[in-house]
Amino acid sequence: MVTAYDATFARLADEAGVDMILVGDSLGMVIQGHKNPLPVTLDEVIYHTRCVSRGTRRALVVADLPFMSYQVSPSQAMLASGRAMKEGRAGAVKFEGGLEMADTVRLIVAAGIPVMAHIGLKPQSIHMMGGHKIQGRTKKEAEGLLAEAVAFEQAGAFSIVLEGIAIETAREITEGVSIPTIGIGSGPYCTCQVLVNYDLLGLNPDFNPSFLKKFADGHGLVSEAIKRFTQEVREGRFPTEEHGFHRKD
Ligand code: KIV
Repeated sequence: MVTAYDATFARLADEAGVDMILVGDSLGMVIQGHKNPLPVTLDEVIYHTRCVSRGTRRALVVADLPFMSYQVSPSQAMLASGRAMKEGRAGAVKFEGGLEMADTVRLIVAAGIPVMAHIGLKPQSIHMMGGHKIQGRTKKEAEGLLAEAVAFEQAGAFSIVLEGIAIETAREITEGVSIPTIGIGSGPYCTCQVLVNYDLLGLNPDFNPSFLKKFADGHGLVSEAIKRFTQEVREGRFPTEEHGFHRKD
């Protein structure tokens, strides 16, 4: 799974063969320039999900419900999930949570909406967690996370994102449930992996967490192309007649 927020990157991901495209609330950081995803609204996620859906032919599009669009009550979560599917054309929704969200997941799944759960490091609870801290580093924490994963599986979630979880714990969780786990910063033993598209493309030279592998020097590539464009325009080398249209008379 990779994230995308627009039709162009969705098409690239779809054609590259990913199974799922996540319209993550990470859009708050990589698209909107915020420090965390908390300011992202449901309308914004729906807008970006609609863009991604238009660019996707094959992969499952998952809409990430943003902070305070689903935590208030099960009916709020149901309405938000329904909007993500009807207006955003998502094929599934994702939300963060623990045991307290299991009953909500059950209701939403019963309404015919596939749910991906997200446990471990939960960026929407960043203030509660005291920062970006790796979860499941002790036996007690690991037991708590496994209980959450099992509760989500029993509630009908079709998969679970494991973010920022100690490798051994992520492995135990993956072995302890029968639905796929999708890791990010949780080591190699999850069923699947997810990365933010801009991160895997290396577009931000200042973002270098140890869990990230950059699969391209996107920053170098894009800035070099824009520099060349600027230089060629200033020097009168672009455009030439080849890039224009002649009169017909
Ligand atoms: O918002 C997001 O992009 C995510 C993934 C990193 C899992 O939640």
